Amino acid sequence: MGTTATWDALWLDVHLLPLAPADPAATVRDGALAVRDGRIAWLGPRAALPEGATAASTHDGGGAWLLPGFIDCHTHVVHAGQRSEEFELRMQGQSYEAIARRGGGILNTVRATRAASEEELLAQSLPRVRNLMREGVTTLEIKSGYGLEPESEARMLRVARRLGRELPLRVKTSFLGAHALPPEYAGRADDYVALLCDHMLPALAAQGLVDAVDAFCEGIAFSTAQVERLFETARRLKLPVKLHAGQLSDLGGAELVGRFGGLSADHLEEVSDVGIAALRAAGSVAVLLPGAIHFLRETRRPPVAKLRAAGVAMALASDCNPGSSPMPSILAALNLGCLLLGLTPTEALAGATCHAAAALGLSGETGSLEIGKAADFALWEVERPAQLCATLGFNACRQVVYQGRCRPLPG
Ligand code: NIG
Ligand code: FE
Repeated sequence: MGTTATWDALWLDVHLLPLAPADPAATVRDGALAVRDGRIAWLGPRAALPEGATAASTHDGGGAWLLPGFIDCHTHVVHAGQRSEEFELRMQGQSYEAIARRGGGILNTVRATRAASEEELLAQSLPRVRNLMREGVTTLEIKSGYGLEPESEARMLRVARRLGRELPLRVKTSFLGAHALPPEYAGRADDYVALLCDHMLPALAAQGLVDAVDAFCEGIAFSTAQVERLFETARRLKLPVKLHAGQLSDLGGAELVGRFGGLSADHLEEVSDVGIAALRAAGSVAVLLPGAIHFLRETRRPPVAKLRAAGVAMALASDCNPGSSPMPSILAALNLGCLLLGLTPTEALAGATCHAAAALGLSGETGSLEIGKAADFALWEVERPAQLCATLGFNACRQVVYQGRCRPLPG
């Protein structure tokens, strides 16, 4: 009676995997974690709890493993429609690239997304976001890129912002106007890039809808020179850049990301040693997307051993999109990251937490259990953390905490 609580909440009977980038394998068995004002105030072995420390509420973790909330740092979750017709075509042997060149692929989803109202777009995106939230995701990156004209791109980004406001999770947006050439600009790619640079990006940025600028640097999309123009505009607007680079062919996207000090280069099935060195020198993150490899039955692989040897941080994300990775699941990405790419379970878990935070410029805020960071974490009913990677199609999430508040698991 009369004691002032030093903490708002305390979790006991948990094992901790803090996933601090300096030592991602470190664990604390029989640990405790305290929260104050939405931030991590203390963590360590229960036996080392400061004497006399009190908390307004105490939670019994029941022997669960407590990990940082997952960060899905590359998604296209906001879109309308679905593309299982293309899945059937690919199962008959047609390639993703051939379908795209015929006006299918991304442009198929552009047609559906342009036709959808803001409410429809929100309603169609919500189940995907809820699925990620049930899997312990507390931070989500969402790209535009299925509008490809000012109003539809703005609508996608407004929906992304609404998801971040209306749901208990952090949303970071990326402007991906340079995802595909819209049909009305066929044969006039430079004019479209000029529209992006001179009108769309500055206007959307002025509305506060853009946290970063992304592009698809690829034979079926935009050249390095075109992406460079966009990146220069981003630099003028003081927006960080990232890039879909080397998914189908290496046009030098990683080098470009390095040159602009970008947050990340994503995909990287094709990347040269020079590209890897450029990422290393710039401290850019390699975001690996095994879902796209799985769904496209891609035989090429990002050079994980080389990236590891070079000391490039590797993040892992779902790439959730209706074409190449219809997979709103970070747990599936963990499993595929190990099986298809050869990541160790520790690398995969760090890839979906601390390195994903770096890929969003959020290293100081979230992605690891460290004093002062946001109290974003999840409790898992597993015997060992590696079980999260070693299992597919099962969700052992017991509780999610976002900014210190217990989040109801969405039904
Ligand atoms: O990350 N590569 C380009 N963008 C997405 C695919 C989008 C789509 O097919 O709709 C990707 O794989
Ligand atoms: Fe993508």
